[in-house]
Parts: sequence; C-alpha cells; structure tokens
Amino acid sequence: MSKKLFIETLGCAMNVRDSEHMVAELHALEGYELTDQAGEADLILINTCSVREKPVHKLFSELGVFNKLKKPDAKIGVCGCTASHLGKEIIKRAPYVNFVLGARNVSKIAQVLHKDKAVEIEIDYDESQFAFKDFRTSAHKAYINISIGCDKQCTFCIVPKTRGDEISIPSELIVAEARRAVENGAKEVFLLGQNVNNYGRRFSGEHEKVNFTELLRRVSALEGVERIRFTSPHPLHMDDEFIEEFARNPKICKSMHMPLQSGSTDILKAMKRGYTKEWFLNRAAKLREMVPNVSISTDIIVAFPGESEEDFAQTMEVLNAVRFEQVFSFKYSPRPLTEAEQFTDEIDSEIGSERLRLLQSRHDEILDELKLEHQGKIVEVYFEELRSDGYVAGRSDNNVGVKVKGSEELLGTIAKVKITEAHRTVAYGEIVA
Ligand code: 5AD
Ligand code: SF4
Repeated sequence: MSKKLFIETLGCAMNVRDSEHMVAELHALEGYELTDQAGEADLILINTCSVREKPVHKLFSELGVFNKLKKPDAKIGVCGCTASHLGKEIIKRAPYVNFVLGARNVSKIAQVLHKDKAVEIEIDYDESQFAFKDFRTSAHKAYINISIGCDKQCTFCIVPKTRGDEISIPSELIVAEARRAVENGAKEVFLLGQNVNNYGRRFSGEHEKVNFTELLRRVSALEGVERIRFTSPHPLHMDDEFIEEFARNPKICKSMHMPLQSGSTDILKAMKRGYTKEWFLNRAAKLREMVPNVSISTDIIVAFPGESEEDFAQTMEVLNAVRFEQVFSFKYSPRPLTEAEQFTDEIDSEIGSERLRLLQSRHDEILDELKLEHQGKIVEVYFEELRSDGYVAGRSDNNVGVKVKGSEELLGTIAKVKITEAHRTVAYGEIVA
C-alpha cells in the first residue's frame, strides 16, 4: 500500500505552488499519494503563512488537533513562512512536530522527512531548487513561479524575511514550464511572484536580462496558451510599457491586482511603498482608460501606526475614485522582524476595527452598484470546476466568478456567457453561441 500524504495550505498563491512542488517531490521520490483525511495520513504537512498574527496562533491549535487525530506513527511537518520565521521554536512549543521546513527550502522536503527534528530555514538560493517534479492541483490552470523572495522593504511586511531576497527564475525555464503545462492540457498560465513586474532585475547566474513585459510577450507567443494571469504586480513598477502590453495583448486576462495599502501619501511613506496617492490614482486611471472592461483588485491595510482620521479619509477617497472590483482589507497586525513593529504611534484596536468596518461596508455598496453594470453583459468564461448543484463554475477574463447550468463536458472549455443574475461575488449566466 502506498503511503498517504495530507497537506493543508494556508496563505497566498505562492504557497499553493510550493505545496504542489512538495506533493510532486514526495510522490516521485517517496511514493506518497494524497489523501484528504488527516487521520489516514502517514505524513501531515501544514504549509503556513505569517503575514498576519492570527494564522500563526491558529497554527498551534491546529497542530494540537492533528497530533490527536493522527495515526500513531504518522509524521507532522510544518512548512512555509511561519516555519521560516519561528524555526526551532515550533518544535519547542509543539515537540511532536517532526520537522520544520522554510518557505525557501521546499525542495528539501524529501530529505528532511528522514531527519527527525530537522529545521531547514536558511534562505540561500540555488537554481537546482527549481527543478521540481511535476504536480498540479488543477488540470486547467498552471501556476508558475517567475521569481522568489522580495527586495522591497515595506515596513509592515515580514515576507522579505521569510522568503529572502528577490531572484528571478530564468525566462527559458518559465517558458519551458508553460509549454509543458499547455501540452498537459492547461489553457491558463498563472505567473507568480511577490513582485512580478519587477521581474528580471537579478538572476542567480548569467542569464538573459528580460523584463516582465517581455516575459509576458514570450509566454503569450506559445501556441496553446490562451490565458495569462499574474500576481502580484507592484503599483510602483506599473510603467506605461507594462500597462500598454496589458491592454494590447489579447491573451492577458483583464484583471489587475494593484495593492494600494493606504491612500494617504504620508502613510505610504511610512510604509516605504515608494509611490504617492497621486501616482496610484494616475496608474489606475490609465488602466481604466486603456482597458474599459478591466477589473482592479487591491489590498488595503487600515490602522497602520500613525494613521489619522484624515489619512483614513484619503484611503476612502481612493476607494471611491477607483471603485475596485475586489478589495482584500486588513487591520494592521504588527509582525516580528519588521520595521513598523518598532513604531510607537499604534492605533487603538477598536478604532482599527471601526475603520475596517467602514471601508468594507462602503465597498459593499460599490459592489452593489457594479453588479448592476454586469447584468446582461457577455463575458468569456473558462470553466474549471464541476459543482454538485448542477452548475459548472469558471472565471471570466476580467475575473468575475461565473456559474452556468451544465455538466462535465464544459470543463476546460472557454465560452461566451451572458450574465443573467449578478451578485456581489458571483454571477449566473447562460452560454451564448
Ligand atoms: N498587517 C496587516 N496586513 C498585512 N499585509 C501584509 N503585512 C501585513 C500586516 N503586518 C497585507 C498586505 C498585503 C497582503 C498580502 O497582506 O495588504 O498586500
Ligand atoms: Fe504568502 Fe506572504 Fe503568507 Fe508567505 S507570508 S504565505 S509569502 S502571503
């Protein structure tokens, strides 16, 4: 009987891809097969996120649960960003954990597995780390890393500490991986990095200097790639060339993530984001002008240290001006190893919660207005998931979740759909010829 692997993935798309890499390595080198029952597994992995404090607390309570329900000789491994920043403290607090593997060390999974109490978290880089065996959760969509780590120094963010310096993966490896994914049936390629449009600044060796815009052109030149998505770009690096390629290239899905963080230029400065409110508004306006159907999503942090009522009002102003199609909003959470952790002008937690509530309820109003605009529109949908309620679900080019009545044969196809019933986060529709 094959050994069974249970893996839980928290956090961002980078983690999803790292989990796929670990599943592939464990399958190819150790013969593991996936299970969705932790109690049946011989190996339980949690791929963690440390971007905010809550998930870190949750990790230890979850570990306790897994420890109770696991088979007696099953192993537990903690991987990912929290593994990187807590390291051996994890084993101190949860001594039954067998190994700890940092976000930048996932390629070592098959090795640490055999070293009880191993803690692998150093963040040096070696190109062989990217020669993984192949495994993809979705047959239709291929996540591909284009860079690892992050060179920015946003004062709130722990990621540069957990994932290390930014290094771009050579373009020929990315193109080869995209080609392989397409040969295996995927029509959509999803390029991943902390800072995708900063691609090409630093490689680990002698490689052709290619910027992100050029990389997009090369991936889109591949026959069989029908859709390209990417996350996350940085507003600072949204130059005209990039926005023009985004607008012009029909294979690039018209959905852009533009992490605002704050609408106040003073707070952006304290966050070391490198742009002003005006720059952000200018870039968003250019996008809307060049790509009329674009969907813009964002991340916003409220109650960053020193955020005054006026600063918060500036964030609301940007929200109202850009009318984002999707907002991921968070109350500031102090993180270890960051500069802002030392800032003393914290905002009262209740005030933070109130600002978050105000922001989210204003955004809900915007969504209610936007959904009326979706009604009756025709969008192109790539169907990826069969639901038990007789619907097939997919995403439109501009990132609306769309469901139509249908069955299996729709999976993996792209069709024009007329939206008949639009809600805030999902729409129902009918395929049109
Ligand atoms: N507190 C709250 N939110 C944070 N993010 C990153 N660090 C923090 C923090 N310390 C948010 C940012 C980022 C998203 C992934 O998480 O908005 O874009
Ligand atoms: Fe992803 Fe950042 Fe969370 Fe790490 S800390 S999993 S990079 S969101």
